[in-house]
Amino acid sequence: MLTYNDAEKILAEYGQEHILKYFGELTKTEQRSLLDQIENIDFSLLDNLDKEKNSNLKRGVFKPLDAVTTEDIASNREDYLKVGLDAIKNGKTAAVLLAGGQGTRLGFDKPKGMFNVGVNRELYIFECLINNLKKVTDMAGTMVPLYIMTSEINNRDTVDFLEEHNYFGYDKEFVRFFIQDMAPAVDFNGKIYMESKSKICSSPNGNGGWFSSLVRAGLLDEIKEKGVEWINVFAVDNVLQQIADPMFIGAVIRSGCESGGKVVSKAAPEEKVGVLCLEDDKPSIVEYYEMTPDMLNLRKENGQLAYKYGVILNYLFSVEKLMNIYGNDLPVHIVEKKIPHMDENGRFVTPEKPNGHKFETLVLDMVHQHDSCLPYEMVRNKEFAPIKNAKGVDSVESARELLKENGIEL
Ligand code: UTP
Repeated sequence: MLTYNDAEKILAEYGQEHILKYFGELTKTEQRSLLDQIENIDFSLLDNLDKEKNSNLKRGVFKPLDAVTTEDIASNREDYLKVGLDAIKNGKTAAVLLAGGQGTRLGFDKPKGMFNVGVNRELYIFECLINNLKKVTDMAGTMVPLYIMTSEINNRDTVDFLEEHNYFGYDKEFVRFFIQDMAPAVDFNGKIYMESKSKICSSPNGNGGWFSSLVRAGLLDEIKEKGVEWINVFAVDNVLQQIADPMFIGAVIRSGCESGGKVVSKAAPEEKVGVLCLEDDKPSIVEYYEMTPDMLNLRKENGQLAYKYGVILNYLFSVEKLMNIYGNDLPVHIVEKKIPHMDENGRFVTPEKPNGHKFETLVLDMVHQHDSCLPYEMVRNKEFAPIKNAKGVDSVESARELLKENGIEL
């Protein structure tokens, strides 16, 4: 257990002495709680604020990577379907729903999956996802274990909501929850924000830690016991998300690749999506803001964009490879966010604009730890309806349109 003196020393080393400013005013329980929080902070994250030291974000040499296109998929339909369905029927697949994010852009104060996209009836985001997964389990006649990652902030609400709604008809024996880690939030000078005199501001540390959190929750043993070989990882916010898609699974297995990523053809060179490509001859995702104008506009002989395939946060990873790369560091991304906190007068304030940084690792960086990844092209309007914002691009409105287009009554 960390003592006050130990805490002082650690904080002095990282220039964070202000955390103990009100220590004398706290009750014994609050004091213990604050010391425990200090003990649990990964202060090495703060080193990433120093751009020079944060060399793990430096990029290598990019090259385009071709996808299995919708045409290829149509001509191999039967084979992919059979191989994928066999894998599901034999219990070799599981799904991981990443639902630990805070969804700040949507501005909904509950877990994003609890958002009702229905108009004349209730239709929740979680419900859309489970309906999509049920189509596969009905077709296969086998359940797919579903692991749901939440955060300390939204775990209780998420579990209660799914319980209340009887898991939207999914057999709860096949659903497990696990809680991701948190990271401290800092101001633009790198000082950790306080939420109150006894509580440090922290937020979920990105979706990149999903596998280590799953392992720490003791769920890997279960996954191995069940004989699961492939894990489909996906985001909560795409209401048309196809989960454990047998064709995708079949295509990745047939390709012999270690992993796969669902991709959409970019609508225009400057579209703001990360592109699945090669970096130093290994699969990788290059963000749109990292691409030079030449890269953005580069075309192949057939006139198509060379960096064409945007990722949608739906990946297939092999359990064996995940175990091999477990423990390898992922780059830490520093993200500007609005961070509600206690100001210097001890008042709790909610900022209007970004006022600091959060630290996140990202699942897309796991792709670069693989030797191969199959980009699998899907039809955008059938499978991609993300809800990031309340209005405009990737919003509740655009997702509703796409749901209707796909015959889903709202
Ligand atoms: P986003 O990048 O959209 O982040 O997450 P967010 O935190 O949910 O939303 P904003 O940026 O604040 O508006 C993509 C996916 O990764 C999950 C989200 O729940 C979503 O499914 N995620 C994100 C986590 O599981 N944990 C995190 O720490 C962050």
